[in-house]
Amino acid sequence: MNSEELVRRIDQLKLERRAVILAHSYQVGDVQDIADFVGDSLGLSREAARTDADVIVFAGVNFMAETAAILNPSKTVLIPDINAGCSLSDTVTAEDVLRWKELHPDGLVVSYVNTTAEVKALSDICVTSANAVKVVASLDQDRDILFLPDMFLGEYVQEQTGRKMDIWMGECHVHAGIGEKELKEKLDTFPSAEFLIHPECGCGSSCLYLKPDAKIFSTEGMVNYAQHSTTKEFVVATEVGIIHRLSAKTEGKRFIPVKDTAVCEYMKMITLDKILRSLESNTFVVEIDGEIASRAKRAIDAMLAVA
Ligand code: 13P
Ligand code: SF4
Repeated sequence: MNSEELVRRIDQLKLERRAVILAHSYQVGDVQDIADFVGDSLGLSREAARTDADVIVFAGVNFMAETAAILNPSKTVLIPDINAGCSLSDTVTAEDVLRWKELHPDGLVVSYVNTTAEVKALSDICVTSANAVKVVASLDQDRDILFLPDMFLGEYVQEQTGRKMDIWMGECHVHAGIGEKELKEKLDTFPSAEFLIHPECGCGSSCLYLKPDAKIFSTEGMVNYAQHSTTKEFVVATEVGIIHRLSAKTEGKRFIPVKDTAVCEYMKMITLDKILRSLESNTFVVEIDGEIASRAKRAIDAMLAVA
C-alpha cells in the first residue's frame, strides 16, 4: 500500500471506530501530519483527558499511552508498537520509590510523567517538563521531596525554585548525550541564533553560563516561543523530531538541531503501517490494573490542577 492509500484507510477506520490519533512531537513527520493532535507530554495528557472519542491511538511511547489510559478508564487506548519504551522511565521502579518512602514517611514524591503507572501510583504529584517548576514551587515547604527520575530536569527545577530536593540519578540516553561540547560547537557556528534547550539535556543548567540567554523549554514551549519570536534562526537542543513540528508551525524560520543524531529510537518505532494495523486489529490495548490506575490518576490530576 502506498502512503496515500495508507492515510486514506487510516482516516476511514478513524471514522468507523470514532478514534483520534494523538502524537508526540518526536514522532516521524508523516505520523505527525495525520495526527488529530500533536503536542508535548502535558498537552497530550490534557487532550487525552478531554477527548470524547471511543478509541485513542497513541503515537508516542508507553508511558504516554499509559497516561492516556489512566485518564480514560472507559476508553480503548492503543499503542501501535508495544516495544516503544523509554530509557528514562526504565531507571526507576516502584520498589525504589517504596525504599525512599520508608526513610521519609512524610516526604513527597514528585514524578516526571516519564515513569511507569506503578511509579505514578506511589507518587503524590506528577510533573512534565512544561510545568515542573510551577508544580514544585507550589508544594509544602516543610516536606522532604524526592524528584524522579530525571537528574538534569531535577537540577534545573531545584535551581529555579531554590527548593532542596532528593534527585533521582536517572537520565534519558538521547538528552544526556547533548552536552557542553555540542552546545559550544553550535555557539561557534551560529553565534547570532537563539538557543532552545530541553531541560532533560545533559548540558542541563550549565548551558546557562555558556549561553545565558538560552531558553529552557518543553517541546511545546519551543513551538510557542519560535512562533512569537522575531528571530529567524534557532539552534534546538532536543530530539530531532521536533524540527518537523517547528517547521510546520512557523514560516521563514530556520531550525538547526544541536545534534542531528539525537534520535529516540522508541519514538521512531511508530509508523503509518503500524497505526493502520493498530486500528484494524485493535492492537496493542493498553491495560492497567484498576487500583494502580486510580492511584496514578490522583497524581496526574493533582498536576493538572496546579498547571
Ligand atoms: P516533553 O514533555 O517536553 O514533550 O518531553 C517529553 C519527553 O519524552 C522528552 O524526552
Ligand atoms: Fe524517553 Fe528520552 Fe525517548 Fe523522551 S527521548 S521518550 S525521555 S528515551
